[in-house]
Amino acid sequence: MTSYIGKATSRVDGRDKVTGAARYAAEFGAPDLAYASLVTSPIARGRLKQLDVTAALKVQGVITVLSHQNRPLMADNDKAYKDQVAPRNGSPFRPLYDDHIKFSGQPLAMVLAEDPETASYAASLVHVVYDEEPHVTDITRQRNNAVALKAPAKPRGDATRAFSESDVRHEADYFVPIEHHNPMELYASTAIWNDGRITVYDKTQGVQNVHGYLCGVFECDPGDIRVMSPYVGGAFGSGLRPPFQVALAVLAARAISRSVRLVLTRQQMYAIGYRPAMIQRIQLGAKADGSLNAISHDAVTSTSQYEDFHRNETTWSGLLYKSETARYDHKLARLDLPTGCDMRAPSAATGVYALEAAMDELAEALKMDPIELRLKCYSDRDQSSGLPFSSKNLRECYRQGAEAFGWSRRNPAPRSMRHGRELIGWGMATGVWEALQMPITVRIALTSNGHAEVSCATADIGTGTYTIMAQVAADMLGLPLEAISIKLGDSALPQAPVEGGSWMAASVSNGIVTTCKAIRDDLLKLAQRLPGSPLKGRHGGDVVLADGAIALKTDSRDTVAIADVMRSAGIDRIEREEQTTFAKDDAHAHNTHSAIFAEVRVDEEIGVIRVTRVVSAVAAGRILNLKTARSQIMGGVVWGMGMALHEETLIDHRFGRVMNANIAEYHVPVNADVHDIDVIFVDEQDELVNPMGVKGLGEIGIVGVPAAIANAVHHATGVRVRDLPITLDKLTRKA
Ligand code: MOS
Repeated sequence: MTSYIGKATSRVDGRDKVTGAARYAAEFGAPDLAYASLVTSPIARGRLKQLDVTAALKVQGVITVLSHQNRPLMADNDKAYKDQVAPRNGSPFRPLYDDHIKFSGQPLAMVLAEDPETASYAASLVHVVYDEEPHVTDITRQRNNAVALKAPAKPRGDATRAFSESDVRHEADYFVPIEHHNPMELYASTAIWNDGRITVYDKTQGVQNVHGYLCGVFECDPGDIRVMSPYVGGAFGSGLRPPFQVALAVLAARAISRSVRLVLTRQQMYAIGYRPAMIQRIQLGAKADGSLNAISHDAVTSTSQYEDFHRNETTWSGLLYKSETARYDHKLARLDLPTGCDMRAPSAATGVYALEAAMDELAEALKMDPIELRLKCYSDRDQSSGLPFSSKNLRECYRQGAEAFGWSRRNPAPRSMRHGRELIGWGMATGVWEALQMPITVRIALTSNGHAEVSCATADIGTGTYTIMAQVAADMLGLPLEAISIKLGDSALPQAPVEGGSWMAASVSNGIVTTCKAIRDDLLKLAQRLPGSPLKGRHGGDVVLADGAIALKTDSRDTVAIADVMRSAGIDRIEREEQTTFAKDDAHAHNTHSAIFAEVRVDEEIGVIRVTRVVSAVAAGRILNLKTARSQIMGGVVWGMGMALHEETLIDHRFGRVMNANIAEYHVPVNADVHDIDVIFVDEQDELVNPMGVKGLGEIGIVGVPAAIANAVHHATGVRVRDLPITLDKLTRKA
């Protein structure tokens, strides 16, 4: 039964969000709430030599000042600080642990006061003396000291030689700067003290990850801490790992045996996660007919001095296109910055940008249409593993996207299209991401009044998880959407992974199906006990739950009302909690794909670039909710515009400090920058990826967008800017 699955359904939590009924981490309180404010390091590396808190303590309303010198006990080993998403190699940052300073913006002391203004005023009075050490925050300066990572993917053949023998060659460096997530909601934690037990409301993508982390850091029993995160005001990867403020809020509550709230300032948020900077060299070699014979991708990404954070940034180049040879190399540049982290489509947003801009340059060198080149190299197998895709309808993405965009009317010559004083450019690119799923446990309680409560410790980071959960449960239980209530964002609920990697829609939808089937089977057994039951001898697979009844799939007239079944069994509630694991399909590669088409208009006199149209055609398996799915892709496209044209975290390397740590100077697209975005979901049925055929949409929306826009800018102007963002000064820069 699919009355809801697939339909464009408005968010079930929409009303709560727009009316303010939905509460976020900093909006929970307690009568005895104290407020924390941080003193942070202005230097990037060194030691904290002296800390003078005398003046701060004299301010009326100040409760105490905590630092490494007087804080309560915290664990003393790396293992305790490793969360589910922590890099394998390294030593996680420990806030207020000792006198070592590892990055600018590091918390050094925390003032606790009766109100937030007093706390932040007193924090400004804390006097710190430093022993400064030389630092390096510039990836280009560390490029030659970067450490090699183990081969990210198996190379094929001799790419270096094949490249030298290619008919047509393209080689260039591409650069992506550090970027920050800048979610609307500030990083915040409210720790509610209850006689030694703490409930912490935290802005996170994974309550159970934070819970495990806090239990490790404070060496306490799982029952002593509970983590809640019913709503998240944007995270995009920044809430995958527990940020330092959650440990500090709990530390403070334990220190004063009171409830404490710690909300970071926008500026302080720049000392947590970010998309690492990436220097990439791409070499593409092709035969005269456009078939690729060599792909080389060398990458240097940045990390901190204490953890090796990276993803498989170069593997996308290996898997996407047919090429006889391929070679990858990935090095890490250690910088005196906090460790970077995942940010929407980590590794693909950056790696595919370089590959897809390079493909455009190769197409130009070959005098080939960019789509034609991609079709020439189209592969139905993951080129690295050699495995066929469980499904890959990228061809349709190219076709439907091109048609909707009007690509056939493109004049391939740069600077050939113009409207008034604006040059017009049309560019395209491919996007690719993984289709993943994780083990998950879902509990459902169905009551005889026709209501069901679905609970699972997942998050809804704004992607629409509440809504798709309700849709799937409603269809599987045969209830109206309004009869389903969803509980999530509570560490005490059944197990869920962090919401990330675009894996939650697949994980939780299949999880709900599993538990609903268990409930259906329970109901069937009870129904078969009824005298004269039309369901005698039937199996779970023969029946469905629909319209408040159990019905035979083959004959919808043979029904038994669920309420009757429960009444005669003397129960008013059926509850099941089931774990769902996913069969390992080693015979296939599992990916989502997209084709992006972008139109830019460039005013040459003032250098302004406008992205006037984007078409994104996406193949991502079954779409659970057309409306929230479209919103996900639109959000990704807007972010891709930001990556192409606006976003850049600027560091003054003399001080190792972010200079634009605010959303006035850190540029992101605003409404006036966003014009026409058309999202197309290409039909893709996939019974191999998971039973529901869902592939996930959180990340694919951004991948390829920066390249499509960069390619459009080149088509408009004839200028190729390879270091993002493409700002007006770079357009007029002399090569
Ligand atoms: Mo996503 S960057 O895994 O939240």
